[in-house]
Formats: sequence, structure tokens, C-alpha cells
Amino acid sequence: MKQSEFKKRRKQLMQRIGEGNIALIASASMHARNRDVNYPFRQDSDFYYLTGFNEPDALAVFVPGRTRGEYILFCREFDAKKALWEGAHSGLEGATSHYDADDAFPIDDLDDILPGLLENKTKVFYPMGSNLELDHNLLEWINHIRNQSRSGIIAPGELVSIALILHEMRLFKSTEELKLMRRAAEISALAHIKAMKSCKPGLYEYQIEAEIIHHFIDNGLRSVAYPSIIAGGKNACTLHYTENNSKLKNGDLLLIDAGAECDHYAADITRTFPISGRFNEAQKQLYQLVLDAQTAALEQIKPGLPWNSAHDASVEVLTQGLLDLGLLKGKLKKLIKDEKYKQFYMHRIGHWLGMDVHDVGDYKIKDKWRLLEAGMVLTVEPGLYIPPDCKSVDEKWRGIGIRIEDDVLITPTGHEILTSGVPKSIADIEALMQAA
Ligand code: GLY
Ligand code: MN
Ligand code: MN
Repeated sequence: MKQSEFKKRRKQLMQRIGEGNIALIASASMHARNRDVNYPFRQDSDFYYLTGFNEPDALAVFVPGRTRGEYILFCREFDAKKALWEGAHSGLEGATSHYDADDAFPIDDLDDILPGLLENKTKVFYPMGSNLELDHNLLEWINHIRNQSRSGIIAPGELVSIALILHEMRLFKSTEELKLMRRAAEISALAHIKAMKSCKPGLYEYQIEAEIIHHFIDNGLRSVAYPSIIAGGKNACTLHYTENNSKLKNGDLLLIDAGAECDHYAADITRTFPISGRFNEAQKQLYQLVLDAQTAALEQIKPGLPWNSAHDASVEVLTQGLLDLGLLKGKLKKLIKDEKYKQFYMHRIGHWLGMDVHDVGDYKIKDKWRLLEAGMVLTVEPGLYIPPDCKSVDEKWRGIGIRIEDDVLITPTGHEILTSGVPKSIADIEALMQAA
């Protein structure tokens, strides 16, 4: 991502904060895995969105109108020994020269410098409640200023959630962001194709996972956007199954939910296909039903329609289908009203997608489902999961779990499916697997 993109975002943020106010965002921290080993570092998405700075132990401060510079970065000082062991880090010099900070200070001097920046400001915007250390420090700094009130210094009187501004900005993807999302989507789609081609009975779920991760890393995408779900047979009925250690059986379906991250932007794809390469009759019927539900949901994805329309469409198609196939009994309207479908379809149609796989952004505005707008990206992922011990349905349906998930960009006239590279019709999946 170009530095100019981060600069544009900071400018927008400054305008929305307004002069006389201040905003603070902390970086993510390193977390110890054991002794001298850390978990892989993943920057805080809000922090990265505004700074492009990929180090822990940093705090970004935004002070609109400050004459000596509006954007201040507190970070680690350059340490030659650290650089030798752990690799490069930017130091104060790099913070200003590479990352366009107007001013940079050592993170160790935070307590000395920050109260001065907060003095006489009215509102403090910050990610309320999501970083306990920052929450605590902020109150300490404010108390520190209050103690000086007799010298005429005024402490900020309002704490405001920065999410109100920042997450609304993150919800609408720019051309630069879409380039990264398209790449994450394309590489992830190809990884799913590879998984379909290499699947055969007798392999273990982790061997399919290895195919997928290999393709991600081989293309330079070294992080998954979330732990991959590789669920053969009834494992697919556990929504967040990630053990990935069962043997794949002839006659079962395989559900794969996997996506890569490209420079902090996620893809999120699910496909479900027969391990043998051919669906049996019952699998075909349920699979086609989920696909029809996705088609119906996608028809509701365009500017001006409420977020919930796609969910309602999927519920209607799935409930009618479950009635037709005999898994539910009763009247369509009443089954929907009583949410009887929830025993087989217990999640919603999707979620915003962006830097976080379940991305930020409000789904409702003043109690009403918000209207879709161009530039938003979301997933469309209906599913059916028939519990293995579900006595109320015929045995042939039990233990089948199916989800079909695509990533969708809302365009001015409708939508664009970013993950259309992976087949999903029964005929296309079977053809691809037979040809392998
Ligand atoms: N992979 C998580 C989800 O589909 O929401
Ligand atoms: Mn999803
Ligand atoms: Mn998913």
C-alpha cells in the first residue's frame, strides 16, 4: 500500500476529529508463546489503517491544527543489538522519513509527553475498551492534568469512541484496498481449486490444509485470514471445526472454509464438494438448495437494499427447500416466524469483510438495517448443517454439512463476486474433480 493512501486516511480522520480535539490509537503488542518465542505479530487493523507502521510498542497521536505537526508517532528507538537479533525496525528517524510522521518520540517517554498533548483539548477519540492498557493510561494522564488545574490548564472533558469515525471509513473500500482484496480473493480461490483437484478418499484433512497453505505461501501470502476449516463428513456440522485431523471417507462431503490475508486484507471462501468427486442423490439435493439460497441472497446485494434482505431471501429459500425435502413439516410462513430453520441454518447470511475477516462497520443505523452502498464488501454464505444425531429427519440427511461462501463487492449498479474463480455448480465441481 502506498504511503499516500495512509496520508489520505489521516487527513480524512483529522477533518472528522476537528481542531481542539485529539485522537490516540495504540499498536498491537507482541505476545509470548513460550519462553523466547513469540506468536507471529499481527498489527492492530485500526492502527495499520492509519499508519502503515508494522511494529509493536507504538502509539499514533493525531492533533488537528497542531503547528509543530498534526501526526505524532511514539515508537521504539533504534537499537542496533535488537536489529541484529530481530531484524530491522524503523526507530524515530524512520518514523518521520519512511512513515511520514510529523514528529516522533520514544515510546518510553510517553508518560512525560502525552499529558502535554492532551492539555486544553476538549475531546479524546480512542478505541474505547479495546486496549485496557491505553484505557488505563489515558485516565492516568487526564488525572495528571486535572491536578494542575489551578495553573489554568484544562483536562479533556469528553472521551469518544474513535470507532464511530474510523470504522465507518474502513467500511468503504478504496481502489487501493480493493487491489489487495482482489489479490487475497484470487489466490484463495486458486487454493480452493487445488484442494478440489487433490482431494481423494484416504487422505487426512490436514493434507488438504497443506495444499491450501502451500498455495498461499507460494504466492507470498504468508498469513491466513483465520484458521482454516477442513471438515470432512459430519465434522462440517461443527461450525468452527479446526482440528483438521480426520481421514477423508469415500461417500462424504468435504467443507473447506479458508482464506488468505494480503497485506492485512482478508479473503473468506467456503466450498463444499464430494470427496469421491461425485455427489450422491441426498447430497445433491441439499447442495443445490444451499446454492439456490445463495443465488437468491445475491440478488438482494445491490445499492439501496437493506443489509437484511439477503438474509431474509436465504431463509425463505432454505425453509421452503427443507419443507419440500421433508426435513421440516408445517407451513412456510409459520416455520419462518418460529425460526424452525435455525436448527439447520443457525448463522446469518454473512458479514462485512476487509482488514478483519469479520470486519468493522455497523449493520444497523438507529435500529434499522442499513442500506447497502457501493464500496462495501461482504460475504454471502448460506449453509445447512444436519446434526448427525437428528432423529427428526431421515437417516440419509444426517451428518451432512454444507456452506457456500463468496466475497462480494457492492458496485454502483449491483455487485461483483471477487471469488468467482472457484466453481460451485454441481456440474462444474464434478467436471473439475473428474478431470484431475
Ligand atoms: N471463516 C469465518 C466465516 O466464514 O465467517
Ligand atoms: Mn465468512
Ligand atoms: Mn468463512
